[in-house]
Amino acid sequence: MIPGELPKLPFIVKPFILYLFLSLSFLAFIYLQTPRHTFKKDPTNHSPDLKIRPGYSSYDVYIERQLNKTLNPKLRQIWTTRDWNRKVEVFSRFFDSLKQRKLLFNGSKALCVGARVGQEVAALKRIGVNDSVGIDLVPYPPLVLKGDFHHQPFDAETFDFEFSNVFDHALYPDKFVGEIERTLKPGGICVLHVALSRRADKYSANDLYSVKPLIELFKQSEVVKVRNVDGFGLDTEVVFRKNKNRNK
Ligand SMILES: C[S@@+](CC[C@H](N)C(=O)[O-])C[C@H]1O[C@@H](n2cnc3c(N)ncnc32)[C@H](O)[C@@H]1O
Ligand SMILES: *[C@@H]1O[C@H](CO)[C@@H](O)[C@H](O)[C@H]1NC(C)=O
Ligand SMILES: *[C@@H]1O[C@H](CO)[C@@H](O)[C@H](O)[C@H]1NC(C)=O
Ligand SMILES: *[C@@H]1O[C@H](CO)[C@@H](O)[C@H](O)[C@H]1NC(C)=O
Repeated sequence: MIPGELPKLPFIVKPFILYLFLSLSFLAFIYLQTPRHTFKKDPTNHSPDLKIRPGYSSYDVYIERQLNKTLNPKLRQIWTTRDWNRKVEVFSRFFDSLKQRKLLFNGSKALCVGARVGQEVAALKRIGVNDSVGIDLVPYPPLVLKGDFHHQPFDAETFDFEFSNVFDHALYPDKFVGEIERTLKPGGICVLHVALSRRADKYSANDLYSVKPLIELFKQSEVVKVRNVDGFGLDTEVVFRKNKNRNK
């Protein structure tokens, strides 16, 4: 060997290095070509007691899935006829109980979130809470207006009272709660019926295992009452009051 010259690499090394280089470039290429999962899951997914269901690859897929049931003509027929009175009566009893506890008044301006055909709105009107309306992805006038609960179509501080039994349909629970707190007046009441012990239906977007994550989401409110109820498969009623102090 001539001094100063690099030692000759064994003949096998050169093609090996070339091979290594090419494979790494190929892997890097594949990696960069793979679409990243830019559709962000809700940050509250970190709580073990609130899990966002996988499989909603985009917001459109989520909405399409919700609409699939809500728009079903046969079901809409049943909801507005056979089911109507029974559900209005059960909702009326829940709302009457809230009235007795001075959480709801005839003069309350009330919103029902995810009201579908609006049996809960009809119940509020039946017991004298006349200024009541619902929102849902599908409108059912005059009781239910079109609106997404992730982005309520109302100004801040509009309602004295909000009711919902569709928390499990929220793909973004923090937005669902944030919008309720935004549109409630200071001191306003929010009543949620949720399923804790049994799994909600196949159209749900999240599963809730305790009230803890729910209470954490209500950043501008205090818990008034948690109790067991029997409300169409939902077993727990949680009542919140939005703080009167706006800086809190
Ligand atoms: C289980 S149903 C409950 C209907 C009604 N509250 C009742 O008890 O009869 C869930 C409702 O939530 C509605 N929904 C789902 N996602 C929604 C969203 N992002 N904004 C508004 N409504 C939504 C659905 O269209 C459906 O009508
Ligand atoms: C909606 O329902 C129809 C008929 O029931 C079904 O063919 C379709 O795949 C459903 N779409 C979604 C997004 O679930
Ligand atoms: C509220 O409205 C109901 C139904 O119209 C009526 O029976 C009741 O007396 C009213 N309550 C008050 C406190 O005005
Ligand atoms: C609510 O509406 C009912 C029926 O339309 C009416 O009898 C009642 O006086 C109204 N109550 C209030 C507080 O406006």
